[in-house]
Amino acid sequence: MSLKPGKIAQRALSVKPSPTSIAFLIFLVSFPILLLLHDGVNISSTLSLQHFQRPKPRLNVLTLIYDQKSDHINVAHNCRMISSTSHKFFIHTDDILQPYCKECTCIEHKLAQCPCPTGTHGCQVKNPCEKVEFLIESVTRYEEFLFLDNDLIIMKPEFLDHMWARSRAHDFLASYAHLTVNSSRYLRNFNSGLMFIRRLPDVNYTKMRTSLYFHKKEQDQGVVSTFFQQNYKNWDSLSWKWHCRNLKRGYQDVPLEACYTFHDRVEVDDFLIRMNTTRLTIP
Ligand SMILES: *[C@@H]1O[C@H](CO)[C@@H](O)[C@H](O)[C@H]1NC(C)=O
Ligand SMILES: *[C@@H]1O[C@H](CO)[C@@H](O)[C@H](O)[C@H]1NC(C)=O
Ligand SMILES: *[C@@H]1O[C@H](CO)[C@@H](O)[C@H](O)[C@H]1NC(C)=O
Repeated sequence: MSLKPGKIAQRALSVKPSPTSIAFLIFLVSFPILLLLHDGVNISSTLSLQHFQRPKPRLNVLTLIYDQKSDHINVAHNCRMISSTSHKFFIHTDDILQPYCKECTCIEHKLAQCPCPTGTHGCQVKNPCEKVEFLIESVTRYEEFLFLDNDLIIMKPEFLDHMWARSRAHDFLASYAHLTVNSSRYLRNFNSGLMFIRRLPDVNYTKMRTSLYFHKKEQDQGVVSTFFQQNYKNWDSLSWKWHCRNLKRGYQDVPLEACYTFHDRVEVDDFLIRMNTTRLTIP
């Protein structure tokens, strides 16, 4: 004899539930919920780990500009270039009404008004003490930063991401000032127009000011590069593609397309004229 489907259902319903089967049922129902909860915890903890372990690259880029009206165009260009990245541009300036200040962070700069060094040349064009004072102030304010001269222009949007990666392994980076100086590592000058600087504990940065007057320098460059080479162990030199410029003491063979930045590259006027049509401007 065969049972009809209705009867099977009746039988099933009439079976008295034992405590074990109730426990089993509860387990069956709650198991997927437990799994979900477990997964949920996993997902959120993975996200927060990623958040803390891999923060977005963020370089603080600093420029100092005062009394150099014609260089505002470079600063405006760099502001546009940097604003579209995950890095921050701080412009220390005596003219916070510049249109680019809406897009970048302009910080009012008061001149240090320190005396010119009394060397053979004194202060020919500008007081090197202003830049040295600015670097001393900046290293106090920012744990690490990339300094750019205001006559330097960024040529490639990926420059700062690459510089950020390059700077993770070092405390100081700059390119050499000359091609043909053949002296010991410690005496070779850096160009101070583009420098990555990380603040180190136990380094007395105000000594830069003292040595500026001691050495009677008319330029900040010798003082700054000697200071960092003597006080830092973990510094490195950047190849000239990072800091393409017109080197006075020798021929520099960096193709224009390879340059991350231009600094004082008079020989590239034709290129700049063409670039002017694509130069980013503040509307
Ligand atoms: C630089 O100095 C080293 C060691 O004194 C010497 O061997 C080398 O030939 C020099 N290079 C140039 C370009 O003068
Ligand atoms: C740092 O150097 C300056 C100039 O040489 C000096 O006056 C000052 O006392 C030094 N500061 C410390 C904390 O050593
Ligand atoms: C690029 O354009 C700016 C603003 O119009 C101008 O001042 C500058 O002379 C131009 N540069 C070149 C190389 O043509």
